[in-house]
Amino acid sequence: MLRDGHMPIYEPTLEERVMRNVKEGRLRFTSSYADGLCDAEFAFIAVPTPTNHVNGGADLRYVEAAARSIAQVMPEGLIVVDKSTVPVGTGDRVRQIIEDSLPLPLRFAVVSNPEFLREGSAFADCMQPDRVVLGAAEAWALEAVAGLYRHLECPIIRTDLPTAEMIKYVANAMLATRISFMNEVAAICERVGADVRMVAAGVGTDRRIGRAFLDAGLGYGGSCFPKDVKALVQMGLDAGCEPEILQSVDRVNREVCYRAVSKLADTFGSLSGLTVGLWGLAFKPDTDDLREAPAVRIAQALLAAGAHVRAYDPKAMAAAREVLPEVAFTADAYSAAHLADAVILVTDWPEFSALDFATVKELMCCPVVIDGRNALDDRLLTSLGFIYRGMGCCSSAHVPAVQRRTRPEKVLEFVHAPEIETEVGVSLDGEVESTLEAA
Ligand code: UGA
Repeated sequence: MLRDGHMPIYEPTLEERVMRNVKEGRLRFTSSYADGLCDAEFAFIAVPTPTNHVNGGADLRYVEAAARSIAQVMPEGLIVVDKSTVPVGTGDRVRQIIEDSLPLPLRFAVVSNPEFLREGSAFADCMQPDRVVLGAAEAWALEAVAGLYRHLECPIIRTDLPTAEMIKYVANAMLATRISFMNEVAAICERVGADVRMVAAGVGTDRRIGRAFLDAGLGYGGSCFPKDVKALVQMGLDAGCEPEILQSVDRVNREVCYRAVSKLADTFGSLSGLTVGLWGLAFKPDTDDLREAPAVRIAQALLAAGAHVRAYDPKAMAAAREVLPEVAFTADAYSAAHLADAVILVTDWPEFSALDFATVKELMCCPVVIDGRNALDDRLLTSLGFIYRGMGCCSSAHVPAVQRRTRPEKVLEFVHAPEIETEVGVSLDGEVESTLEAA
């Protein structure tokens, strides 16, 4: 796909940047190690390290396979740079694998250079990083890799291999801990009538704490935090420690997304037969990545409880169709709300905050919105007559139970909107559908 000019993932500006650099001769793709490494000074290993489902640790198969393949064809003096997130000790293991697999003895070095970019803002994070972390036993290799980053304006932290590997896990685990901590605080806020959004603002202004990663919601997803917290737990257990905080971080996160489902059950009494619209499917905005996305677990829980699910995401629909075959996917956010008894905002794409909520209210059977990311203007929605429930906001407490309304006749007014017309058949029963066809 890359050689044909196609991007296998969505990341803002990625396609144009890759294509420009290919065109200008700075970047090429190959699946042959020999071709890629024939005159290389550096070989970056940037392969996945998914969760090993036997014990929750990191699965190092791809890293080890890459090391073996590099050893077969590498030139003298190659610096093997490990970018993959790997448990402490992996750099030494890579060195050992290469040594054991080399056809002839050669001088080489292994440097750990963990990556801190976020999906969705990958380029800014790469080009303006807070720091570059390098770990190696050989000073010459460390300095050579530091030279690659000399144009960046940021500190370069030089350390040994195990410490560099540890820094990566601790950075992700610290951020994940803040999120689970705030999700726990959100649950308490709801019970006592406090507003977690203001709590985050209030404590985040303390410079020792900072405001980032204090947003309560439906928990962290993606390919990094969930697996890295689990891997650090396993690393601790393997080392004879009992990582209680990290285990709780993971446990809180696994359960938090179901709070949105419980709020619906509290609101309606039962989920069976409800039509629920989901706004957003990706694990966060600006990506099409569904890995560990709360939306998948929420949709599955709703379907298992007998609800009908309609969903829309600006970028993740293609991937979602494969994972959630029972969900009806809609052309836009309005169509996902059309005739729904409730909507759950799962991913805080900016376009959802900019919707015309008066129209949304008219489209819905019941104006119930569960704001899973505290992204919407709760005062506006409440003033428009919505039953708004956020995550850990005082406005979400003491909400009266709602009787599910029958579908209003006025839905007929909306079938004239072209973008909705194509969606009508998905959720209406046969009687109304034929009335619409006749109309
Ligand atoms: C994360 C780290 O932020 C990067 O530094 C790291 O390089 C990357 O993992 C990785 O190890 O490769 P990423 O997974 O792309 O990046 O996304 P984040 O922006 O960190 O968000 C992760 C999840 O946390 C999302 O589901 C997001 O919705 C959630 N989140 C984030 C919250 O629930 N609350 C917050 O306050 C912030």
